[in-house]
This record gives sequence, structure tokens and C-alpha cells, in this order.
Amino acid sequence: MLFDSLRDEFKAAGAAVDCGPIYPEVTSDEIRQYLRFQYDFQEPIPLEKVAADAERMLRHWQVQITHSRYFGLFNPGVTLSSVVADTLVATYNPQLAAWRTSPAANEIERHTLAWLGAKFGLPPDAAATFTNGGAEANLTAVIAALTHAFPDYGEDGVRSLDAAPVIYLSAQAHDSFSKIAHMTGLGRNALRVIETRANLKMDPRSLAEQIGRDREAGLAPFMVVGTAGSTAVGVIDPLPELADICRREKLWFHVDAAWGGAAIVSPSLRQYLAGIEDADSITCDAHKWFSVSMACGMFFCRHPGTVARAFRAQAGYMPNSDGAQVSDPYTHSVQWSRRFIGLKLFLSLAERGEAGQAAMIEHQTHLGNRLRELLLGSGWRIVNSTPLPLVCFTREGLDVPAFLADLRSHQVAWMSEAKVGGVRVVRACITNYKTTEADIEDVVEKITRLAMQQQPSQLSSISF
Ligand SMILES: Cc1ncc(COP(=O)(O)O)c(C=O)c1O
Repeated sequence: MLFDSLRDEFKAAGAAVDCGPIYPEVTSDEIRQYLRFQYDFQEPIPLEKVAADAERMLRHWQVQITHSRYFGLFNPGVTLSSVVADTLVATYNPQLAAWRTSPAANEIERHTLAWLGAKFGLPPDAAATFTNGGAEANLTAVIAALTHAFPDYGEDGVRSLDAAPVIYLSAQAHDSFSKIAHMTGLGRNALRVIETRANLKMDPRSLAEQIGRDREAGLAPFMVVGTAGSTAVGVIDPLPELADICRREKLWFHVDAAWGGAAIVSPSLRQYLAGIEDADSITCDAHKWFSVSMACGMFFCRHPGTVARAFRAQAGYMPNSDGAQVSDPYTHSVQWSRRFIGLKLFLSLAERGEAGQAAMIEHQTHLGNRLRELLLGSGWRIVNSTPLPLVCFTREGLDVPAFLADLRSHQVAWMSEAKVGGVRVVRACITNYKTTEADIEDVVEKITRLAMQQQPSQLSSISF
């Protein structure tokens, strides 16, 4: 069976990645030259040979996202169930544009989304769809919010509106909103960046005041974005307060929980998402903290009628699902032809169960806490505050770019840079369910030594 060989291959590939380097040493020129030389697409090459070569390129020429010491940008170590799902999907290639074409896939997605939507506190008739990722889910949210607030937006566009629409978010919100403002015709200046408090959470008072000022200036506020687990520092905006303001001001409340949303399945962590149940729409990516492979985003919305209006489409050539009492995905989402994205999450949840999924998340949270503890005990300073496993840190006199370069050349771990209060710091997020406490202990010991010997002349004497 397909599954048996996949399990062995997955295990072997995982072990090989963990033993190898995390950072690639390659330039674009080297890769381009190699491809030009090897692949002119004139003579056929046996598939085994090309596949082996493609795997070799992936092994050597990429940051190893699934390495247990990749402390990265929310890209997870993936589960076997995702790999099985991706293989099944590619093999059967279901088309999810219409229900009639792939009833099984459509219903599996519907079932999975309904389960998660209920966890978020959304009503049973909420709209939900799988997306390529968080950026597409956020785009879907903005289109739905515009459609809700401005009845003429769909037919006559932004240019027909009496007042300029405004979206509110904090500087910690994901930068996809800037592109979305551009793409939707709102313009990037439609975003109002609201001040954060010292803890980097959006300040509700500043939000309320800015809305007031904008209304007085004749603008048309229509949407507030709260982030639950921000990309750079992992903060969760004060969702209940933002929900209150939105209710009072009649604004659409979107929660971007692309990473942090997975915490909803954890009995000990879901408290931090309080207020999400009042959202008009939610973004949550399974390809982040649910540890499934890319691409697997999700969009949830409590206004199915608005979503149906926003994405309505009719095409005589599409299979007709009338009479099946279903809605065709191409009529309530951004994409048309669509891959069976949701199987990965379905298999993952079914295989582990809710408790197993929660245990994965809680394990990583525990490691985040352990990382903080060890860093503090080794002279580092933590500069962010979040219950989620994302730690931003620095120490006296640290040259962050030079430190990250050392980390890379010694292949210690993958970490990135973040800016907190305009200051460069190191960012490490526990994104892999396979990472162990021993990994964390070893990495802290090594990075502390690196930082203490940051002088280039002394670097060569360090051995790992
Ligand atoms: C909070 C947040 N929202 C949205 C996104 C965009 O998600 P994607 O890269 O899946 O499109 C990210 C990506 O890291 C994110 O951190």
C-alpha cells in the first residue's frame, strides 16, 4: 500500500534532515547554472533519476524547515498524515470548485471546518473555506467586510463610495494587509496603524479615539483587525476590548489568528483567545501550528450571506449542484479550481484526536517557556511577552546581524531578526513538534557561547 512506503520514506527523510545542515550554502548562480546544464528538456530522463535529483536539490539547497532546530517563521515540522494527504490528493486530483465533482472531498472539508468553527465559538451556519494560506484568508475577510459595509462596493467598486473606507490594525499586524489594501482598490493609505501599549498589544483607547477622529474627518471606518499571535513577537491583541469597540461602532471585527488560532484546541491555552468568539471573521492556518504541510489556510465567517454575495459567480459550463442542497466552493471563495486542501487537517485531527493535537501544541509551548527560562539564566534579556512559544531576546552589546551570521555559519539553529521598539533582537519560535528539551538546552548553551565570543578573531577557536 502507498502508505507503507511513504511512512518509511518520511521517517528516513526526517532523520536525514535532522542530521544535516539547516542553512544551505549555495548561490542563485550555482543553481541556475546547474539547471541550465542538466535540464534543457530535450531528451527524456527517467522519472526515478529526476525525482532523486529533485530530492537532492531540496536536501542541499534550502533552509531545512522541518529540522528540529529550525526556530522559524511559523513554518512547522510536518506530520506524516499531511504527507499522506498530499500524496492522496495529487494521486486522485479532486476538483473542489463544485460540490458535484467531488462530493467526498467537499464534505470532508465541510466537516473539518465545522468542527474547528465550533471551537472558535462560531454558529453552525458560519461560512468557512480552506485557502492557500493566511494572506488569502485575510484578503477574503477584507472583501467580505467591504461587501457587508458598502452594498454598492460589489457592483460599482470603491470609486463609487461617498467616503474613503478605513481599516484599523496595529503595527504588529501581518503585512499582507498592506498588499490587500492595494489589491482591493482601497489603497495602502486606507490602513490606520493604531498605537500599541508597552506590551505591543493594540491600545483600545487609541483605536476608539482614531475612529472618532476619522468619522469627524468624513472617512468611513469599516473594519478592525486584531491579531492573535503576531508574526514578529507573538502578541495577542486585547480581543474582548476590540470586539466591544466594533460592536459599539458597528465595524467588522476580523481576528488574524493565522498562527495562534491553533491554541483553541488546547484546554490550557484557549483562554488566551477569549474574544475570538465575537469575531465576524477569522483567519487560521493549519500549515502553521497545526503542523500540516503548506498550503493549508482557513477562513471562517459568521455571515454566510455576505460571503455568498461577495463571491457569487455563475458559469454555464460548471457542473450543476442544484438539488444537492449544497454550496459550490467557487461561489463562496476566492479560488475557482481548487486543490483538496483540507484533507491534511482532517487526517491529522483524525489520527491524533483533539487531545493529541493539543498535546503537540502544549509541548511546543512548554519548550518556549523552557527557552525563556534558560535564556534568562544565561544572561539574555527577553523583550516580548506572550503565552505562545515565540521568544524575542537580546543581550548587552549584541550585534544581531553578526550573531545571526555566526549562528548560520556554525549551523547551530535557524533564528531570525525582529524589531522591538525599533531595536534589532533575535526571534526564535518553536515550530516543530519534534523539537526536544535537549535541543533547547544545547542551543542555548551554544548561542550563549557564540554571543560571548562575538569578536571575529575568537570565532575560529569555537568548536561545536
Ligand atoms: C499573523 C499572520 N497572518 C497572516 C500570515 C500570512 O500567512 P500565509 O503566509 O500563510 O499567507 C502570517 C504569516 O506568517 C502571519 O503570521
